[in-house]
Amino acid sequence: MAGLISLVGVAVLAGTVLVVTFVISAWFGRPIVFGYDDGPAQPIAFPHTVHAGVGPLLNADGSPRLDEEGQPQRVNVMSGLGLDCTFCHRMAATEAAATIPSVGLCMSCHVTVGDGNDEIEKLRQAADTGTPIDWTRVHRVPDHVHFVHEAHIRFFTERDGVPASQVCSTCHGEVAAMTTVRQDRSLKMSDCVDCHRDNGAPTDCTTCHY
Ligand code: HEC
Ligand code: HEC
Ligand code: HEC
Ligand code: HEC
Ligand code: HEC
Repeated sequence: MAGLISLVGVAVLAGTVLVVTFVISAWFGRPIVFGYDDGPAQPIAFPHTVHAGVGPLLNADGSPRLDEEGQPQRVNVMSGLGLDCTFCHRMAATEAAATIPSVGLCMSCHVTVGDGNDEIEKLRQAADTGTPIDWTRVHRVPDHVHFVHEAHIRFFTERDGVPASQVCSTCHGEVAAMTTVRQDRSLKMSDCVDCHRDNGAPTDCTTCHY
């Protein structure tokens, strides 16, 4: 009898742990249960929170970053710059690839901003030696698949009457709140086709396959 009770107890505990894990991961937008994890480490720890975030500095989970007194870190020149996504990803609204900005664009600020920061020193070294930064790709469709940013940005900016930078989160989640970019949405074939069907976009094989 005692054995049975403890067995039931273990089952209930296991069930609770599973539910709690699910709720926590769903809450923070990191569906551990479905197998997405943190994005890859990058050669320079470039935080979107600092550059694209607005207002107080944010942690990776989107919660406010607190100072020593437990208050949200205040907005100043050094935090939450609120740069537009297309300021850096210049081709997103006009070309197939959104593109990653050059070292030169970063240096327009970092010639002067960030003395003594190890990550920014790496950036300056790259600029001095003319070496591009070998960023690790986070999203990549296989070679036989054709993806075009331009068509998507045009469709959703026109449909919703919003600027390009407000369309990105549909597929990429809240990048402005991510310290390290991670994939937020499956972007597998069924995901692409479902959205095409819902929006009256073409679903014939040759739309997406060469
Ligand atoms: C100051 C320049 C800058 C701004 C502003 C910026 N990004 Fe980025 N973004 C980068 C750099 C550099 C990388 C490559 C390093 C990395 O992945 O963190 C990147 C990577 C990404 C990636 C991952 C690309 C891949 O490899 O799959 C996405 C998605 C992205 N940015 C979306 C956005 C969105 C959405 C915004 C606006 C909310 C934004 N970015 C604002 C510079 C910027
Ligand atoms: C419009 C100006 C501007 C541009 C463009 C810009 N940054 Fe920054 N960056 C800043 C400011 C301001 C800070 C905050 C500096 C601080 O906290 O001392 C910062 C902080 C950083 C940090 C340190 C973050 C931390 O808190 O540890 C890194 C790394 C960095 N930037 C990399 C880059 C890279 C790489 C690019 C190009 C893709 C870039 N920045 C483009 C203004 C800019
Ligand atoms: C309809 C979904 C969708 C939307 C909307 C979208 N992306 Fe993407 N993004 C993707 C996919 C899929 C990839 C991988 C493409 C590939 O491998 O060729 C990608 C790749 C990227 C990359 C890395 C490769 C590249 O193209 O340079 C960046 C940076 C990026 N997106 C930024 C953005 C920004 C910024 C926006 C908003 C202006 C945006 N994306 C809107 C789906 C989307
Ligand atoms: C959030 C919804 C959504 C998602 C997710 C999405 N698409 Fe689309 N896609 C659209 C819509 C809407 C259009 C039609 C745009 C138009 O009318 O020009 C489109 C158009 C296209 C086009 C046609 C571009 C052209 O030449 O006109 C291609 C190719 C494409 N999508 C590929 C993909 C692939 C591959 C994926 C997944 C990796 C994907 N899409 C994910 C909504 C989506
Ligand atoms: C809206 C875009 C879209 C359309 C339409 C589409 N596919 Fe795909 N397909 C994809 C994407 C994205 C992938 C890659 C998924 C991944 O990342 O593994 C893919 C992968 C595949 C694969 C490889 C499967 C695998 O597991 O690697 C095959 C085969 C395929 N598609 C066949 C088709 C056929 C046949 C059609 C027409 C009935 C079709 N696709 C229509 C987007 C599309």
